[in-house]
Amino acid sequence: MKVLIVFYSMYGHVHRLAEAVAEGVKEVEGAEPVLRRVPETLSEDILKAMGALEVQKSFAHIPVCGVDELASADAIIFGTPTRFGNMCGQMRQFLDATGQLWAKGSLIGKAGSVFTSSATQHGGQESTILSFYNTLLHQGMVIVGLPYSFQGQSRNDEITGCSPYGASTVAGTKGERMPTENELAGARFQGKHVASIALKLAQ
Ligand SMILES: Cc1cc2nc3c(=O)[nH]c(=O)nc-3n(C[C@H](O)[C@H](O)[C@H](O)COP(=O)(O)O)c2cc1C
Repeated sequence: MKVLIVFYSMYGHVHRLAEAVAEGVKEVEGAEPVLRRVPETLSEDILKAMGALEVQKSFAHIPVCGVDELASADAIIFGTPTRFGNMCGQMRQFLDATGQLWAKGSLIGKAGSVFTSSATQHGGQESTILSFYNTLLHQGMVIVGLPYSFQGQSRNDEITGCSPYGASTVAGTKGERMPTENELAGARFQGKHVASIALKLAQ
């Protein structure tokens, strides 16, 4: 069973979460995580000006996702940084290229899930994930969130991302904060949870 993890990351936070999601998928016997990036839409000059070029090199080895790979996956977990309370443009553009899949109903009945990152605690993580789910519902996917059985999302003793909608991290306004152990645990939980539900759907 193939669980596709498709992400965009500018400064590495979503990438780090994606790795943890993949670890969680691997915990389910018979489930194989496949990591993919969505195509970049910004020029190298702009990425350099945004201070993203060097960091992006560290995950440039991950193959860029082809739209058809979505159709052959058993479940898809998407990762996107928050942009004004929404998914990033790179992810939007990628999803807008899936019209043929929609026309054929290729994603109907597959488990779909989303995780995110934002600069600030209340900068729109939940609205990013919830608005992302609109697209997945139009594609007929079965939405899978992050249940409260991941108890780390109820912590109040430290600043933390993660909500019932999906795993998340707070990156800081300068991107200075990488995902914490608790946030990574949430991402692992989400990966394992999606894979186990996909297995049940397959049965
Ligand atoms: C155009 C733009 C819009 C952004 N909008 C938000 C926002 O609405 N809320 C927020 O907290 N952070 C916002 N951010 C910060 C990003 O979410 C942050 O850089 C990202 O989560 C870091 O993850 P990454 O390293 O994987 O790209 C924005 C950044 C950019 C460049």
